[in-house]
Amino acid sequence: MTTERTLSVPGLAYGGDYNPEQWPEEVWAEDMRLMREAGVTMVSVGIFSWALLEPAEGTYDFSRMDRLLDLLRENGIAADLATPTAAPPAWFFRSHPEALPVDRDGRRLSYGSRQTFCASSPAYREAALRITRTLGERYAEHPAVVMWHVHNEYGCHNAACYCDTSAETFRRWLRERYEDLSDLNHAWGTTFWSQWYYDWDEILPPRATGAVPNPTHQLDWRRFCSDELLSLYTAERDALRVAAPSTPVTTNFMVMENFDALDYWRWAPELDIVSNDHYLMSADPASEIDVALSGDLTRSLAGGPWLLMEHSTGAVNWQPVNRAKRPGELRRNALAHVAHGADGIAYFQWRAAEAGAEQWHSAMLPHAGTESRIWHDVVRLGGDLKALAEVRDSIGTAEVAVVWDWNARWALELPSQPSSDLRYLDLVRSWYEPLWRSNHAVDFVRPDADLSHYRLVLVPSLYLVDDAGAANLTGYAERGGTLAVGFHSGAVDENCHVRLGGYPGAFREALGVRSDELFPLLPGETAALGGQVPPGATGTLWSERLYLKGAEAIAGYTDGPLGGCAAVTRHAYGTGSAWYLATHPDADTLATLLDRMCSEAGVVAPLAGPPGVEIVRRRGEDADYVFLIDHAGDGAELPVPPGTTELLTGKRIQGSVSVPAGDVAVVRVPRPDEAGAA
Ligand code: GAL
Repeated sequence: MTTERTLSVPGLAYGGDYNPEQWPEEVWAEDMRLMREAGVTMVSVGIFSWALLEPAEGTYDFSRMDRLLDLLRENGIAADLATPTAAPPAWFFRSHPEALPVDRDGRRLSYGSRQTFCASSPAYREAALRITRTLGERYAEHPAVVMWHVHNEYGCHNAACYCDTSAETFRRWLRERYEDLSDLNHAWGTTFWSQWYYDWDEILPPRATGAVPNPTHQLDWRRFCSDELLSLYTAERDALRVAAPSTPVTTNFMVMENFDALDYWRWAPELDIVSNDHYLMSADPASEIDVALSGDLTRSLAGGPWLLMEHSTGAVNWQPVNRAKRPGELRRNALAHVAHGADGIAYFQWRAAEAGAEQWHSAMLPHAGTESRIWHDVVRLGGDLKALAEVRDSIGTAEVAVVWDWNARWALELPSQPSSDLRYLDLVRSWYEPLWRSNHAVDFVRPDADLSHYRLVLVPSLYLVDDAGAANLTGYAERGGTLAVGFHSGAVDENCHVRLGGYPGAFREALGVRSDELFPLLPGETAALGGQVPPGATGTLWSERLYLKGAEAIAGYTDGPLGGCAAVTRHAYGTGSAWYLATHPDADTLATLLDRMCSEAGVVAPLAGPPGVEIVRRRGEDADYVFLIDHAGDGAELPVPPGTTELLTGKRIQGSVSVPAGDVAVVRVPRPDEAGAA
């Protein structure tokens, strides 16, 4: 949370998207009663209510919203009031068909769902700002409104529009970036394939074309699309600020589920409170790791606590098969988000819809009503969050930093790479997973972040890096840090130009290695590894002919075209050390290597627990809060220091805390001096 505009809801906020416009008003009274029963403290309202709030251009009907906000106020429930701009009404598109987005293939889409508009459309911008201003003025002083929820999940369905208006706006963005057309030509390498531009107006969005489009063109397009949506957000935010200068503003991010359209490092500083939406992927056998990664990434973007704006109580409706949660999973998921820095938990949505596109999506109050497991779990969670109120504002404790960068992700996944099997998120998660299993806390950082307080800095994948980022990372090792870099990193600069002289380009010197040729591995192909790695170790995805230039070989290929060549290296660099993983080691080997790096760097986990029990610590002013989450379902008994209290039960603990099977315990551990007094 970046400014003094903070959330005036006590403790950990609890609630969800509340869309009572889907129901007759008689139902609202029951909603209030049940929300109070569940301990709901804040709901997000109005997210998709543009068509009802503004039935015709410039004509408003706020009567329903007035009644709703008053009702919430009477019931002591705070409102996170949304601008409804993610779903423009049909009347808008009938008068502005040009505001409908055009896809890569030149097809103009139709209205009839949501988020189907062109981000560069002046008509959309004007209409969105008009309803935002009107809403802001009307409700700035309403006592129920504690936060503005701008739009909804920017870019979720319309990350890019390829229409002529977008093309014009893209050119303006490029003029600002390059000023001189010949600089753009050089940055994009347009001498290749006769792509040289003589006039700014010749430049188009990367629409469908016969062969591979220019990589830098595509990369700049992604940067532009993220910035263009960001400018919509900041315009709405600024309009709200005029009306309500001290009310915090958020918009809900989506840092996971393969959504990669927005460079959230650029977005986060523009929010008063960072919030995120997270959903489990049914096909993920270890989705608890995804929860943790998403939480750590969001906390890192926020630079502290954040809000979980959406999650599901059970199945979603947008995957091929939508799995319900297992017993206890709702509680484990929610409290894991808290463990990783959430100061509030909210769901999509309060009451399961009877009709509409999301009628098969779970909710806090399911179709089955209150006689249901979900309702029971929802009420229980309300009690849990109340019991954890004091955890609010406590912070993370990571000694390990993992570099995360959207530009590098976009560039890595462009077409025509040495291998199209490299998925940024998979690579990062494969490094994150062993750290998670060993309960090592992790922060995510930008390549140019201040790294001085980390003991270990990991770079699982950083294909693209600018000179400043590269210098920051290598300087960290030179000044005594432990740095580890994954293959195909440092390969290109910010314009996607290959760094010449051998691989891995920007990191060659610090890593003490140089390779002259890349040998990506085919799907299913493995390369046998020997050396200081577990017996039977293998690499997949990648190999390269690596020469040692000062580094020692930790592991090498035992046969194949690169037999005898190093695959994992370690270099004493300056007063620190720099590792290079020139292949993708199997999970055990990667875990062994990371474990060795952690112990060499002096990284300590908060508490050792049995496998499958996640242990996360948040640091408060006077105490630490240790979350113990049993994902394995075996239960656990763990020793704790004297003076410890289990917060969910309120019991003072003597000697050890027990975590029931598949359940969660949260202990308050006083700092040593207070423990002495206890
Ligand atoms: C989110 C969206 C919600 C709802 C939810 C369903 O992406 O913000 O409005 O659609 O997904 O999982």
